[in-house]
Amino acid sequence: MTPKVQDQIQARRTFAIISHPDAGKTTMTEKLLFFGGAIRDAGTVKARKTGKFATSDWMEIEKQRGISVTSSVMQFDYDDFRINILDTPGHQDFSEDTYRTLMAVDSAVMIVDVAKGIEAQTIKLFKVCRLRGIPIFTFINKLDRQGKEPLELMAELEEVLGIESYAMNWPIGMGKEFLGIYDRHNNRIEQFRTEEKDRFLPLDENGGLAGEHSMKQTSYYTQALDDILLLNEAGNDFDHEKVKTGKMTPVFFGSALTNFGVQTFLETYLQFAPTPQPRKTDAEEVINPVSDEFSGFIFKIQANMNPAHRDRIAFVRIVSGKFERGMTVTLSRTGKTFKLTQSTQFLADDRETVEVAVAGDIIGLHDTGSYQIGDTIVGGKRLFNYEKLPQFTPELFVRVTAKNVMKSKHFHKGIMQLVQEGAIQYYKTLHTEDVILGAVGQLQFEVFEYRMKNEYNVEVRMEPIGNKIARWIQNESDVKESMSSPRSMLVRDRYDRYVFLFENDFAMRWFLDKNNNIELYSLL
Ligand code: G4P
Repeated sequence: MTPKVQDQIQARRTFAIISHPDAGKTTMTEKLLFFGGAIRDAGTVKARKTGKFATSDWMEIEKQRGISVTSSVMQFDYDDFRINILDTPGHQDFSEDTYRTLMAVDSAVMIVDVAKGIEAQTIKLFKVCRLRGIPIFTFINKLDRQGKEPLELMAELEEVLGIESYAMNWPIGMGKEFLGIYDRHNNRIEQFRTEEKDRFLPLDENGGLAGEHSMKQTSYYTQALDDILLLNEAGNDFDHEKVKTGKMTPVFFGSALTNFGVQTFLETYLQFAPTPQPRKTDAEEVINPVSDEFSGFIFKIQANMNPAHRDRIAFVRIVSGKFERGMTVTLSRTGKTFKLTQSTQFLADDRETVEVAVAGDIIGLHDTGSYQIGDTIVGGKRLFNYEKLPQFTPELFVRVTAKNVMKSKHFHKGIMQLVQEGAIQYYKTLHTEDVILGAVGQLQFEVFEYRMKNEYNVEVRMEPIGNKIARWIQNESDVKESMSSPRSMLVRDRYDRYVFLFENDFAMRWFLDKNNNIELYSLL
C-alpha cells in the first residue's frame, strides 16, 4: 500500500449518531455537514426528514410518510479529516437496520436532550455500541432551554448506562440564563450568543476567567466554578484508553439549534475519535485497514431507492485496502467473481458515482439480488468471511397470511427472500406452521407489506400479536412442547431453533419459576 493511501485511511473517521427521537440528531447532523461545507443550506437534512425535499428519490413509502426508511450515509471533509456519518433512523422507522449500522462504525456520538436525560431508544442503541466496545462521545443538547442539573445528568449517565463519564466542558447557566460553556479541555470559556471576536475568553492559572468580565458577577459563573471544583476533586480523571474501549464517555454540553458548542465538539471529537479499526474474520484472523488487499462487508441492503429502476443498493463498509471503480472482487460466500462498475458514494442528499474509496468509507453497490446482509467481498485471491453480524431480539410480532390463498407459493418465496435479506425475522408456530414475523420496529412490517405487494405481487394480511419478549433456549432438549401456552408461546425460528414468545416480563418470570431447569437467553 502506498503511503498516500495509508494517510487517507488514517484521516477517516466513521461514526453514527445515536439518540432518542427529538433529542436533536437531525439538527446536529446538519450543523456538522454545514461545517464541512457538504451542504450549503443548513435545512437540507431536515427537509428530507420532514418530506419537503423535492428531488429525493427514496422509496415510495418513505415519501408517503415523509421519513427516512433506512440509514443513509453522509460524507464530508473537515480540516484534514474525511468524515463519514451513518444515519441511524429513529422515530417509527427504528429497525434492525438501525442496529446493524452500528456494526459498520468505529465510534458513536450520543445526543441527549438536557431536559429529558437518557431515554429509552438511547439505552437500546447504547447497549449495542457497548457490546462492540466502541468509543462513545456524548453531546448534551438544548442548553438554550431549561433542563436537568448537569451534575444530575452526569450521574444518570453512570447509573442508567453504567459508563464512566468525563465532562470535557460544563455549562454556565441554562435556558434564558445560558451564558456559555466552561471548556475544561481547551482551557477557555466559550460565550453563548456573542460576537465571534469575543467568543472565547481565556482562563487564568487558577482556572477562573482571566481579567475583568461581567460574567464573573453572576451566580451562574460561581456555580459553574463550584461544579468544576467538585468534578476535579471527586469526578473521574480523563483516561484516553478507557475512551478508546468505550468504558468512558467524554461529555460535551451545547445547543445544536443555535450552533453553539458544535464546532468545539467536532474538533475535540476528531482529536480523540478512532481511525478505521481492524476487524476479525470468522477464523479469528485480524484484518488490518492498511493491508494491501481490498475487503469489506455488507451491513445493509436498501431496496427500491429509485422506484423507477427498482434497484437495490448494498451498503459496504470497507475494512481494508482501497476500492477503485471497475475493480474485480469475489463474494466470499459464493466464490463468484465480478467487476464493481456501479458504485455509489453518499453525500448528504446526493448520490454520486464513486471512483476511489478506502478503508473506513462506505460505498453503495448496485445489487441485482446477489448480496446478503453480512456478506464479505474481497479483492484478493484469498477468500475469507468477516465475523457474522449479530441477530437482534425482535420485540414486535405479527401473524401473517396471504390474502389470496392461491398466491401461497409467491407468498413463501417473498417471505424467504426478505428474511434472508434481513428485512424481517421469521418464526413459525408448532404443528400448524403459521407464519409469525418479528421486528425491532413497526416500520419493518410496513416495508415488508409494501415490498410483498410491489415485488412479489402478494397482498398480505397482518394480525398484530403485539409486543413479546423473545427468548431462545440454552438447553433445547429439555423443552417440551406442552410448555407452550398463550402467555408463553413456543415457536421455531428460521433455523428451527425453539423460541419462547412471552407476553411480558411477569409471564417470563412465572414460566421460569415453574420450569427452573430451562435456561433462556436473548440475542443482542
Ligand atoms: P431528531 O433528529 O433527534 O429527531 O431531532 P431534531 O434534530 O429533528 O430536533 C427535534 C426538535 O428539537 C426540533 O424542533 C429542533 O429544532 C429542536 N432542537 C434541536 N436542537 C435544539 C437545541 O439545541 N435547542 C432547542 N431549543 N431546540 C433544539 P421541532 O419543533 O420539532 O422542529 P422544528 O419546527 O424546529 O423544525
